[in-house]
Amino acid sequence: KRISIVGAPMDLGQLRRGVDMGPSAIRYAGVIERLEQIGYEVHDMGDIQIGRPKLVTDPKTGLRNLEAVVTANKKLAEKVDNIMRRGDFPLVLGGDHSIAIGTLAGVSKYFNSLGVIWYDAHGDLNTAETSPSGNIHGMPLAASLGLGENELTEIGGYFPKVKFENIVIIGARALDPGEKQLIKEKGIKVYTMHEIDRLGMTRVMEETISYLKERTDGVHLSLDLDALDPLFAPGVGTPVVGGIDYRESNLAMEMLAEAEIITSAEFVEVNPILDERNKTGILAVDLMGALFGERLL
Ligand code: ARG
Ligand code: MN
Ligand code: MN
Ligand code: MN
Repeated sequence: KRISIVGAPMDLGQLRRGVDMGPSAIRYAGVIERLEQIGYEVHDMGDIQIGRPKLVTDPKTGLRNLEAVVTANKKLAEKVDNIMRRGDFPLVLGGDHSIAIGTLAGVSKYFNSLGVIWYDAHGDLNTAETSPSGNIHGMPLAASLGLGENELTEIGGYFPKVKFENIVIIGARALDPGEKQLIKEKGIKVYTMHEIDRLGMTRVMEETISYLKERTDGVHLSLDLDALDPLFAPGVGTPVVGGIDYRESNLAMEMLAEAEIITSAEFVEVNPILDERNKTGILAVDLMGALFGERLL
């Protein structure tokens, strides 16, 4: 099976500059060589073009850089769609998490019932009404569920990209009031840090895998590096203490590899300006190694 990599050097979905260099940092950490070592044919399609649009905030909605985020996500959706059409595995490198809107737009229509694992400290379930920041990287899961601005929900020409009962959030520890309300109202499946501590990562992943196997015919992994504790992933724009550790995350990826349920993936929010000698980029590649089946023996 072939893996096609596409970079989305997007930093307009939030306020910390530098996350546009994430795709480079992940490439320099050796992603291609690492995946080839496992035995994959890897095709690097390069980055989508973002340009340098002026930073703007809509005075009515408070949303930041909506137009630029929409334009970039349309481009990404088209690239990912092409990858799916030729039967490759799409691996997207971010960029801030707003790019998940484009990835899911490119992937979702190839499945009857796509599942999503949202591995993140945050829910990214905000809309303009509930967002405390106006930052679109806090909204991609909501947009993919069909909530929020039409410009975001309709990327790819259809919505929603995913159903409420098909998502599993893992690692949550920073949720805004509107996100909590939505989670309760819709019964969204969430493993917060509390459940990870209580049950252990093994059980969390066993439950997640069997839950998704029952109801989906493909699963997208959207991995925000801030799901991990800042000790392991210092190079992220919105770090939250008390996160998932390196070994737990490695195990989670290995269990996904064994279960063979993942059909597309993205690794987002790597910000080299905030990082320590590319620690977070290297971590991302370690996790990719595990996700794609690397074993010690
Ligand atoms: N909930 C906060 C907001 O809406 C933070 C979102 C962080 N999202 C992320 N992808 N890192 O602004
Ligand atoms: Mn996050
Ligand atoms: Mn996120
Ligand atoms: Mn391991």
